[in-house]
Amino acid sequence: MKQLKQVSNSFGKIIFNAIRNMNTNITYTNTLAIEDYTMFRKIVGWQELSERQIEISLKNSTSLIVAMDGTKPIGMARTITDGGYFVLLVDVIVLPEYQKTGIGRELMTRLMTGINENINENETVCVSLMAATGKEEFYEKFGFTKRPNAEQGAGMMQYIKK
Ligand SMILES: CC(C)(COP(=O)(O)OP(=O)(O)OC[C@H]1O[C@@H](n2cnc3c(N)ncnc32)[C@H](O)[C@@H]1OP(=O)(O)O)[C@@H](O)C(=O)NCCC(=O)NCCS
Repeated sequence: MKQLKQVSNSFGKIIFNAIRNMNTNITYTNTLAIEDYTMFRKIVGWQELSERQIEISLKNSTSLIVAMDGTKPIGMARTITDGGYFVLLVDVIVLPEYQKTGIGRELMTRLMTGINENINENETVCVSLMAATGKEEFYEKFGFTKRPNAEQGAGMMQYIKK
């Protein structure tokens, strides 16, 4: 009985994922207007940035992936890197009304594929991120582990305001 339930749950998940990924209006691009970036940050309640900062930040992103519903940007994710070892994953955002439909997964899959493609044989890169509260499980699905743990201390950060 338990086995039957497990099979039925897995089957249900496959069907559910297939249906939710059938949203064929969604396309992916790598450009984002300053005002759309501002809109994304505002909608998820993150700190407002100056136009100057946004322009520099977007220009210096190593990779930027934007999900579009027709002409409307509905999700984004980007990375910053030193080009050798360190990669920082930032601004993973899906508009609330599009969340839980597989767009975050697609953004992450595309970013992680891009990172993987740039690693040479026998090399390692360190990919890090600062998870928002409650989003740790989402990132665990893509291989990230929480800190502190038995081997590593806490990730640390500070905001500097003038
Ligand atoms: C985090 C976020 C990007 C996820 O995007 P999403 O489009 O809803 O995610 P998906 O629908 O693609 O979900 C992918 C998987 O992660 C799971 N997941 C999504 N959000 C989750 C959460 N908060 N906790 C645990 N699992 C989560 C889904 O259930 C799904 O699992 P499955 O594929 O195994 O069935 C989105 O919730 C968001 O933009 N939040 C606001 C901004 C934010 O906090 N971003 C993170 C900054 S660190």
